[in-house]
Order: sequence, then structure tokens, then C-alpha cells
Amino acid sequence: MKHPASEPSPAPMEKVTVPSIRRRKLTAEKIVAVTAYDYPTALVADRAGIDVILVGDSLASAVLGYETTLPVSLDEMLVAQRAVKRAVRRALLVGDLPFGTYQTGPRGATKAAVAFLKAGAEAIKLEGGARRAALVRHLVENDIPVMGHVGLTPQSVHAMGGYRVQGKSPESGAALVEDALALEAAGAFAVVVEGVPSDVAAEITARLEVPTIGIGAGAATDGQIIVLADVLGMLPGKKPRFVRSYLDFHSLALEALGSYRRDVIAGSFPSAAESYTAPEMKATSAIIERP
Ligand code: KIV
Repeated sequence: MKHPASEPSPAPMEKVTVPSIRRRKLTAEKIVAVTAYDYPTALVADRAGIDVILVGDSLASAVLGYETTLPVSLDEMLVAQRAVKRAVRRALLVGDLPFGTYQTGPRGATKAAVAFLKAGAEAIKLEGGARRAALVRHLVENDIPVMGHVGLTPQSVHAMGGYRVQGKSPESGAALVEDALALEAAGAFAVVVEGVPSDVAAEITARLEVPTIGIGAGAATDGQIIVLADVLGMLPGKKPRFVRSYLDFHSLALEALGSYRRDVIAGSFPSAAESYTAPEMKATSAIIERP
């Protein structure tokens, strides 16, 4: 079979890089990002012209069925990273450091980040603001591009007491601006801003010289990111307010598999056209010895 990723893509093909994402701040061309965790969805995201594909630790809840992002391991993330890498030609590939790999300090963070880059990532993302600045600087000084992540950082779910919008008071909003500035000063090439009021995200975006990529942070950021399972409607149930699903994959797949089941039970699948024939079958039967 021809490798699908080697077929011509309908999307523009100029490779997206760390410097080209940085330049978007000047050109004001919006950055379009999604998460992906496997070959088929990364292929479709790349062919659709998505600029940044994040192998997010949302793998934990979106694919592996965990309740939070905390349990996912580095090994599980790297399997996803390698699969995504095989599919992608154009998008910038970012690997998300899972919980437990960088809380241990620069040595753990560097080891995990190097593993991501060896698995095909071109940059890594980690959660946290000013308190991560030294770590970000260390990685950047060692040629590992870093995307920051401030606001509602899901790995801090227990510390935050749940998934709560951050920066709602003037003090906490100002602290988020300081967090984002600290990450920029440490060398982050872009900052994800998640789960904050639109005006706080707008303020961060106005103050930073590197692009912001928002999720649940309003329309003023330099780009948007969304979890693939949300944008494609892969899981049933209520979605957070900031999610827009462009497809109800779960319902369509239910319908499709229901039809398949009915056809198998009725004996109408496979048809003759979906089966192989051997012209010499009669002769074959003749030489099979019957007991
Ligand atoms: O893991 C993830 O999906 C993320 C994005 C939503 C920013 O971190």
C-alpha cells in the first residue's frame, strides 16, 4: 500500500517552523493549532493546513480514558509522538511534557524533552508561569524550543481545586500577565493561554512579543488551539462552553457501526464484489481429499 502521508496534500506545503510561528506576531496571520495523538488524525490535521499539532497530554482523557491528564506516562506520550510524526509533513510538531517529568527539575525535564525531539517533536510544551522560567531558560539554552502554558493548567487540577477559570480578579489577572512575560523573557517562542477571561488574554497578547495561542481565552489571542476529540465530536456528553464541535463523529460512527452490524447479521456483507474468487476453484475442490 502506498504510504498515505506521501500522497500530495491539498494544503499549502511550506513547512511551519519555530521561527515562522514567532513571525506570526508581526504578520498577524492567526495560528491554527489542534492536538493529535495518532497517524490518521495527524494526517487529516496536516492535510487540512493546521499550523501546529500538539501531541498533548490530553491523550490521557481524550484517548486513554483517564479522568485527568496526570496518569499518562512519558512512554505513552512517545508512542503517540512517533505516530504523529509519521503522518505530518507541514505542521510544527510540539510534544507536551507529561506530569512528573519536569516537576523533578532540569535533569528530568531535559531527558523527557530530548526523548520527544528524538521521537520527532520540534518543540516541547510545559505548564506553569514564572516558577518555570528557569527551567524554560535551561531547555532553550540547550536548543530545545519551548512553548509555555499559563492560566488553567490541567496538570494543576488538584492545586486549583478543579478545572476553574483563572485570573478572574484584578490581582490574579495581573499575575497571569507576569507569568506570561516571565516565560517570554526565559525564551519561550509562544505561550498557550488557557481558561482565562477574554480581557486578561487580550492584555497578555498585547504585552507579549511572542504569539499567544488561546483555548477558552476568547478571540484576541494570536491563535487558537482545540483538543481534537472536541473539535471532531469524538466523545459523547456535555462540552465546556469554549468548545465548538465541527463534526459529530461519535453519532456518525454509532450509525456506521450499527449499519455494519445489521449487514453482517443479515448476510449482506460481504457481497460477491467484496469477496475474492478463484477461477480454478472447482479443480481445487477436486484435489482436496475428502475423509
Ligand atoms: O494537552 C492538551 O490538549 C493541551 C492543550 C489543550 C493546550 O495542553
